[in-house]
Parts: sequence; structure tokens; C-alpha cells
Amino acid sequence: MPHDFMPGLAGVPAAKSSISDVDGQRGILEYRGIRIEELCAKSSFLETAYLLLFGHLPTQAEMRQWTEDITLHRRIKFRIVDLMKCLPEHGHPMDVLQAAVAVLGMFYPGRNVKDVDNNYWSAVRLIAKLPTIVAAWARLRRGDDYIPPRDDLGFAENFLYMLTEKVPSPLWTEILDDCLILHAEHTMNASTFTGMVTASTLADPYTVVASSIGALKGPLHGGANEEVVQMLREIGDPSRVRAYLDAKLAKKERIMGFGHRVYKVKDPRATILQGLCERLFMECGMSPLYAVAVEMERVAEEVFKGKGVYPNVDFYSGIIYDKMGIEVDLFTPVFAIARVAGWLAHWLEQLRENKLFRPDQIYAGEHNRPYIPIEQR
Ligand code: SDX
Repeated sequence: MPHDFMPGLAGVPAAKSSISDVDGQRGILEYRGIRIEELCAKSSFLETAYLLLFGHLPTQAEMRQWTEDITLHRRIKFRIVDLMKCLPEHGHPMDVLQAAVAVLGMFYPGRNVKDVDNNYWSAVRLIAKLPTIVAAWARLRRGDDYIPPRDDLGFAENFLYMLTEKVPSPLWTEILDDCLILHAEHTMNASTFTGMVTASTLADPYTVVASSIGALKGPLHGGANEEVVQMLREIGDPSRVRAYLDAKLAKKERIMGFGHRVYKVKDPRATILQGLCERLFMECGMSPLYAVAVEMERVAEEVFKGKGVYPNVDFYSGIIYDKMGIEVDLFTPVFAIARVAGWLAHWLEQLRENKLFRPDQIYAGEHNRPYIPIEQR
């Protein structure tokens, strides 16, 4: 039953899912039917991760157990720390994360994905350990010891602590936790789809997540948040925004942090992230990048008039991380430590009615060509 070829599978449903939904025309994102604005205002990243994986908000007892399970599995084996110490210090943190996650699977049983109980513990370990791996590399690469996690700290709080050895303020903790909620899931994005294809082969969850990390790294996907801050730094001043945009577009280059396959209005996550920027600045002063970003959004509205190109989730997120002192090449790993919840939710959903992903192609080559011996070519 041939289907029309759609580049990038644009608009082609690749799965039936009840995990999240995006209304690209009205700028609405829901996780298991709950608006992200509600979740940012009333939930936490850990509770949201539970909602994504298991389909319902946890009871108090379920949340206590979930929090305890995640907290007690944050540590990583010393051999993974030793492995990171052998890597080149200029290695990109996304490459280190992908390598460490693939290695993680060697320490734990995870191959038999039909074992529901084991799948739970694989999901717990991956959600719990990715922040520890990211924070460990941030310190090991510059010759500092890695800081073990603290069981008395919350999820976002502990991540910032492992980066700096300082317990962050409640405001920073809340803002980062909201950022993690906003990055946790987004229907059939490239990294989730990559993970689902890997999951459909019945590969183990560590391999599934390692494949998703690879897809997320690209600048057209999760890698954009790092590119946005570098772009804002390069522009340097709101007065130079127009010239920068004109020059980029004249060369048919993409403006990082703008545009989206589904949203044809401003990404609702960008709106919330902008609000988080302003809350953060009240405590620790304005970021010079923010004025450039706001001017860029204003000018882009004119430049992209009618094309449905607006700021996406990556446009304001890096300004927050930069203000918190998180290094720019750690921005996409921060995206990954949140999105692993979405990847695992789709992994579990895929396994319930698995079918190997194996699409067709439209062959554009020749047939029946003769083999020419090399001396005659
Ligand atoms: C994420 O899928 C998800 O859900 C992803 C994500 C998630 O949560 O998982 O939301 C996270 O990856 C957000 C996107 C981060 N990437 C960037 O910011 C990179 C810059 N953005 C573009 O490369 C682009 O917008 C894409 C890749 C994100 C989407 O591109 P599409 O859907 O393939 O759209 P397109 O390339 O066909 O563009 C449609 C038109 C084109 O104009 P024409 O050539 O038809 O005249 O819009 C233009 C494009 O030129 N356009 C842009 C643009 N994005 C679209 N022009 C300049 N700069 C841009 N950023």
C-alpha cells in the first residue's frame, strides 16, 4: 500500500500515543492531558516524570516511593567516573553523556525488556543517573573531583549542587525544576522518534536512551539552545539585531531558536521560559543577552511575517542557564536530563504494542547495471 513520500516525515503519524499532545496552531502543550502551565505552577519535574511514564499523577504513597527510588539511585559506579577521566577534556558533554549511558547498561541487567519490574528499575536508574553523569563531567574535565549526589536534596537542587558544591537558592531550584518540566516531553520529536525506532528492535533501554541522546545533540534539535546563546553573545547589542538577521537570511541560514515543525505560533514553552528569565533577573540582575533576545523576537516578527516562524523552546532557555553559571556546552545535556523522562515514557508505551519500525522508500536509482572490471574504468 504505497504512501506519498513526505520529506522528514512531516505530518506523518508514526505512532498512536497518549503521552502528550501539541496544538501547533493555538500553541498548546499537554502532558497526559494536563497543560504545561498547570504543571509548572503546581507540579515538580519528578512528579511530572511519573505522570509521563505511568499515565497518572502519583498518590502520596506512590510519590514517596518514586522519590526514594530515584534519590537512592543517583550514584554512578566508580568505573564510569574512571572512564570519564580517560576522555579528552575538550570532549563535548553530549558525547560524554552518550558514551556513559551506553556504558551504564553494562552494569545493570536491562536486556530482557519483557521484564516489567526490571524495566521500572532501568527507568529509575536512567532518570536518576543522567544528572550525576552530566555534573561529574563538568567538573572532571577541568581536573576537579566529581561531587557525589546528596540524598537530602531535591532533583533540580541536587543537580546544581553537584555542579557547584553549593546548595542553590529556593528560587533557582524552582526555576530549574520548571525548565526540566518544560523540556520533559514533546510528542514525536526527532530524539523521541529515534529512541522509538531503537526500542522497536527490542534493544535495552540504555541503548534506546543513548540513541536518543545522539539525535538530541544536533543543532536543528536540542543543540539549538547552545547555538542561541552563542548567537546572542555574537550580536552583543540590540542595535545590531536587524543587521545580523538580514545578513543571515540573505545567506539562507537558519536563525537558531526560531521556527518549529509543529508550532506556527510562539512556542508556549518559550513564553513560560521568558517569564522565568524575568523572575530570575529580579533576584540576580538582568542578563545583557535578554535585551538582545527580546529585540530579536520583535524584529523577527516583522522579518518572518506570515511564515509561522516564532521563538521555540530553545530561544530563552539558555539565557536562564547562563545566568545560573551553567556552561554553554552543558545546555543540551540539561535538555537531555529532562527529556529522558519523555524518551522512557515512549519506550514503555512502544513495548506494550511493539512493531519494528521499517519504513519503505521510493527507489531513485538504476537497475541491471553491468559490473565493469577496474582496469576498464
Ligand atoms: C526543538 O520537534 C520538536 O518537538 C522539537 C522540540 C522538542 O521539544 O523536542 O520542540 C525541540 O528541537 C526545537 C527546534 C530547535 N531548532 C532550532 O531552533 C533550529 C532552527 N529552526 C529551524 O531549523 C527549523 O525551524 C526547524 C528545523 C526547527 C523546523 O523546520 P521545518 O519544520 O523543517 O520547517 P522548514 O525548514 O520547512 O521551514 C519552513 C519555512 C522555510 O521557508 P521557505 O524555505 O519555505 O521559504 O520557514 C523557514 C524556512 O526557511 N524557517 C526558518 C527557520 N525555521 C523555519 N527560516 C530561518 N530561520 C529559522 N529558524
